[in-house]
Amino acid sequence: MKTVVITGATSGIGFEAACAITAQGMRVIGVGRSAERCERAREALLSGMPEANVDFVCGDLSSQREVHAVADAILSLLGDEGLWVLISNAGGVRSWYTTTADGYEMQFALNHLAGFLLAHRLWPRLKQAGGRIILTGSNSHKMARMHWKDIMFQRRYSCLMAYKQSKLCNMLFAAELNRRQSAVKAYVVDPGLVNTDIGNKETSGLVDVFWKLRKRGGVDPEVPAQTYAFLCSRQPAPEGLYYHNCRSVAYSKRVNDAADAKRLFELSEQLCGVKFGGGEL
Ligand SMILES: NC(=O)c1ccc[n+]([C@@H]2O[C@H](COP(=O)([O-])OP(=O)(O)OC[C@H]3O[C@@H](n4cnc5c(N)ncnc54)[C@H](OP(=O)(O)O)[C@@H]3O)[C@@H](O)[C@H]2O)c1
Repeated sequence: MKTVVITGATSGIGFEAACAITAQGMRVIGVGRSAERCERAREALLSGMPEANVDFVCGDLSSQREVHAVADAILSLLGDEGLWVLISNAGGVRSWYTTTADGYEMQFALNHLAGFLLAHRLWPRLKQAGGRIILTGSNSHKMARMHWKDIMFQRRYSCLMAYKQSKLCNMLFAAELNRRQSAVKAYVVDPGLVNTDIGNKETSGLVDVFWKLRKRGGVDPEVPAQTYAFLCSRQPAPEGLYYHNCRSVAYSKRVNDAADAKRLFELSEQLCGVKFGGGEL
């Protein structure tokens, strides 16, 4: 049975992707930050599909120590098996400049670095399965550029700019992985505007009010969930990098900037204290 790891599987898009993928007969290992919400999500999944093969691993992915612990727990659940797909979907928004346990800006650390580090730790198993990596991006990456001189917005924080840049990082990371190797194909999903609570968690003031109004125009998370199910099941591996509604779509020209992609990859290695894939890429 193929195994799919989904981070941020306790609510919103990740939870619905977990439902759609288990419905295809794959095993799902969900990751969430709260033991209680992990258990609730597992029960909700099983109540709709008692035969589903689903486990949850709990850890705060904004902390690199916890990313390593989550990776260890996933590896032990996998036993000798390969990993078919890693869906790096967990993400968040912060109204104000906030740092993680490692001292990094929260949106950059959670929305980008956590996925980079988890992909590194699970890389041998993804390679073993000839698998795939799917990152949850956003159309907002088209309005972003890399702020190399102040990548964590320490000097002048903007919630929106930090968020959009983190989503451009998802695109650059996936593009760079595909450039460096072909054993594991990387994709980014644009879920579109989705009615979830992402902008109402750990936010305040204008961001909270703005998102309460904006999300009403969003689709239900079951809609983007279909794109993840498509990318997990389609054979042979679909061409293209950026998917929306199960179709390959256009993305920002900045994503083709190989120098930016390489620079981000090397900076991420440095900030995570690793050589991706043991330096073989
Ligand atoms: N909603 C949209 O319109 C939209 C549009 C474009 C892209 N996206 C992207 O879609 C992804 C999923 O967001 P969503 O809209 O589905 O929102 P969501 O319902 O808030 O889902 C976010 C998931 O990430 C988890 N998470 C948050 N912080 C975490 C941490 N520190 N450690 C581990 N897990 C953590 C959340 O756990 P809890 O359940 O405990 O909160 C939840 O499971 C994000 O990457 C977001 O940037 C969303």
